[in-house]
Amino acid sequence: MTHDSAKFLNAAWQAASAAGEIIRASWHQPRAIDYKGPIDLVTSVDRAAEQSIVELLQREFPEHSILAEEKTEITGETEEYRWIIDPLDGTMNFAHAYPQVSISIALECRGQIIVGLVYDPLRRECFRAVKTQGATLNGVPIRTSVANELDKAFLATGFPYDRRENPDFHLSFFKAFFSRCQEIRRAGSAALDLCYVASGRLDGFWELKLKPWDIAAGALIVAEAGGSLSDFSGKEFSISGDETLASNGIIHAEMVQVMRAAATARVD
Ligand code: IPD
Ligand code: CA
Ligand code: CA
Repeated sequence: MTHDSAKFLNAAWQAASAAGEIIRASWHQPRAIDYKGPIDLVTSVDRAAEQSIVELLQREFPEHSILAEEKTEITGETEEYRWIIDPLDGTMNFAHAYPQVSISIALECRGQIIVGLVYDPLRRECFRAVKTQGATLNGVPIRTSVANELDKAFLATGFPYDRRENPDFHLSFFKAFFSRCQEIRRAGSAALDLCYVASGRLDGFWELKLKPWDIAAGALIVAEAGGSLSDFSGKEFSISGDETLASNGIIHAEMVQVMRAAATARVD
């Protein structure tokens, strides 16, 4: 099946770029914060960015479905295409003016992600991928790193919003990698974490309980840059699953081994 990928990618870019303007323009303003859970925040800027993205995509593709984090769920006429959107990935960072945020937009066609775009509006870095056509950063092709052992690997992770209920369980994975890799970052935007794996800035990433809007675009970007994705036991990755493990491919088996050991040793 052929898709109008260039048209989809261009619309995703127009939408991300407009949302990026909204985020940049509000960066030095006071934040209006609501709580979705004890530590799960949403700001008026998340909602404004989502509205702007959804309006643009609906105008361009009125027949497409849309799933966006801040409550937009639209069932399109054809149901063939579905946009999956995180209007502001890194809301905790945004709330504290910590400069690591992104906008993530993916297009799914009959269950397969065919276009992914993640935009960092502060660094003005745009990661893009089209299925089978590779991945780019600001138009330049990217590839995953060549790190060939965990001992030399620079990793990242994140923690879900229910972590207070079971901190030891979440920390068991961190602890397992802690003494085996070179260093670990927790930067606060899963979409960017995945793009950093894709562009070789990171060698691997893991996180539990991410949502489709956090990972749909980034996962395609990793795969198209030559990386590997799976669940924590090495089985097939799904954007609707609970476990995300992404790597440069070379250290994937070693990461799965550590995950397995952590899973048997963990206290939950
Ligand atoms: C969060 C970020 C964070 C990850 C959380 C996500 P949000 O998304 O991606 O890095 O650790 O699990 O929920 O809420 O800022 O869009
Ligand atoms: Ca998110
Ligand atoms: Ca978000």
